[in-house]
Amino acid sequence: MITFFLNDQPVRTAEPAASALLDFVRYHEHLMGTKIGCREGDCEACTVLVGELSADGQRVVYQSMTSCLTPLGNAHGKHVVTVEGINRAGGQLTPVQRAIVDAGGAQCGFCTVGFVMSLTGHGLSGRAPSEKSALAAIDGNICRCTGSHEKAREAGARPHGRHAHDRQAPPVFVRLQNRIE
Ligand code: FES
Ligand code: FES
Repeated sequence: MITFFLNDQPVRTAEPAASALLDFVRYHEHLMGTKIGCREGDCEACTVLVGELSADGQRVVYQSMTSCLTPLGNAHGKHVVTVEGINRAGGQLTPVQRAIVDAGGAQCGFCTVGFVMSLTGHGLSGRAPSEKSALAAIDGNICRCTGSHEKAREAGARPHGRHAHDRQAPPVFVRLQNRIE
């Protein structure tokens, strides 16, 4: 049995451990915000956040992952966050989403989700944020139709795009953090 948290819900499933996390969140949990682009790890439209306890057990450390290449079994004991899980109550935009809107970087519903999740993962990674590291975080996110994503990169370079959730974490992250304190 595979158990983990998916956004703010505990999940327990007997689905095959080798199946793709992407398919589980979309077709089993009906969270369609995570998109399918290439299914080969090349576009990052399927990016989710995966959090696990730090070595000292004091906090949850998140990183962005391509869910098309992540086996469901790898989620065991972890916290998986999809784009549905990052917003605060009332549908307020996160700092990353706001930076993308302000930069005119919102593109289509496929690649934009990936940019949002990659930048959010960067903000939650615990690394010192910088323009360079934020741009590196979205290096693998591509627009498969026009190939243009300059505006999204501009959003990543903005302070709000870089700092993501560090000061205004949505309830789902705060609640999980509280469980281990
Ligand atoms: S669908 Fe996963 S990287 Fe393209
Ligand atoms: S893939 Fe989203 S605008 Fe090209």
